Amino acid sequence: MSLVGDRLDAVRRVPLAALPTPVQDAPRLAAHLGLARLLVKRDDLTGLAMGGNKARKLEYDLAPATTGEYDTVLTVGGTQSNHAVLTAAAARRLGLDAKLVLGGPDVSRRKGNLLLGALYGAETRYLVDDDANDSLAAAMESWAAELRAAGRQPFQVPLGGSTPHGALGYVAAMRELAAQLGPGKVQLVAAVGSCGTLAGLALGARLFLPAARVIGISVSRAAGPIAARAAELAAGSARLLGLEPVLGPSEVEAHDALRGEYGVATETGREAILESARLEGLLLDPVYTGKAMAGLFGLARAGLLDPAVPVVFLHTGGLPILFSFDDAFDDAAPFARVLPGGAR
Ligand SMILES: Cc1ncc(COP(=O)(O)O)c(C=O)c1O
Repeated sequence: MSLVGDRLDAVRRVPLAALPTPVQDAPRLAAHLGLARLLVKRDDLTGLAMGGNKARKLEYDLAPATTGEYDTVLTVGGTQSNHAVLTAAAARRLGLDAKLVLGGPDVSRRKGNLLLGALYGAETRYLVDDDANDSLAAAMESWAAELRAAGRQPFQVPLGGSTPHGALGYVAAMRELAAQLGPGKVQLVAAVGSCGTLAGLALGARLFLPAARVIGISVSRAAGPIAARAAELAAGSARLLGLEPVLGPSEVEAHDALRGEYGVATETGREAILESARLEGLLLDPVYTGKAMAGLFGLARAGLLDPAVPVVFLHTGGLPILFSFDDAFDDAAPFARVLPGGAR
C-alpha cells in the first residue's frame, strides 16, 4: 500500500456506493468510431437512487453528517439534479431527513428525478426560472436558518457535492480503475458539471495512473472556468492528503464545443444516445452522459484521440433524467398500435 493510498484511506468516509463498479468492453461502439478499444466504467451502477457519480462524492461529503449532531441533510441543484436526489437517498440510508432547493424552468408534473425526490419524502422548494448558483445557495442558507430556529440540526451539502472532500471520491475511483486496468496508457472521458468529478480524476490520475489522459466534456460551463475550478478543487483535495497542489489549470483538459444549453438535449447527444443503445445496449441521458459521449464521438472523429490507446468512457449515471425526456424519442423506432381484432 502506498503512502498516499494510506492517507486516502485515513480520510473519513461513509460507505454508500456499491464498489468497485464494473469495466465493460464496448467493441461495436469502438469499431464504429475507429478505436482499437473502448471500455465503459459503469459508475451508473453505484446503486444509490439508481446510480451515478454522486454516490462516490457523498461518501466523503456526508461523513461529517453521521456524528449524531445532525438530523437533516439539505442540498441544492438544477431542475433534474442527480446530485440532489442521490443526496436525498443517501440521507435516508443514513437515517436522516432530506430537504432540497431546486431551480429551473417551471414544471407541471414531477417526472424523472423529481419523482424519485418525492418517493424519498424530500421536501422541495423549487425556484421557478432561477437556477443561478447564488440564488440556490442563498435559499438553502435561509432554509437552514429556519430549521435551526425550529430546533432542527441541518447539514448542508454544496452544489454537486463538489468540495475537496467530495472530489476524493474520484481520487479513490482512479485508484480503483488503475487496479482494474493495470498501469498502461489510457484516455478517460467524463462529463463535467460542477467539476468535482474531473478534479478527483485528474488528481487521482497523477497519484495512481500517471499514464492516463483525463478528458472532461462540459455540459454547462466554458472550458476555461472548468480548468480553473477543477484545479482549485484538486488543490484542496491534495491538501487533505497532505500534498502540495499537484496540477495547475493548464494541465486540466476540458472541451466545451458540444455542451449546448445546460439541461437541453442536443442533436449530437441524441445521436450518441441512440448509437450507444443500439450498438451496446447502453443507456445514456440527454443532459450529462449523452453529451459526454457526443464529445467522445467528436474527439474520435476529429482525430483528437489516439485510436491505438484504450479509451474509457466514465458512465456517471443520471438515467432517471431520461424519463423526463420521454417525448423526445417518440420517432426513434417504428411503433404500431394494433387494436383488438388486428386493425391498426
Ligand atoms: C449524471 C452526471 N454526470 C456527470 C455530472 C458531472 O459531475 P460534476 O458535477 O462532478 O462535474 C453530474 C453532475 O451533476 C451528473 O449528475
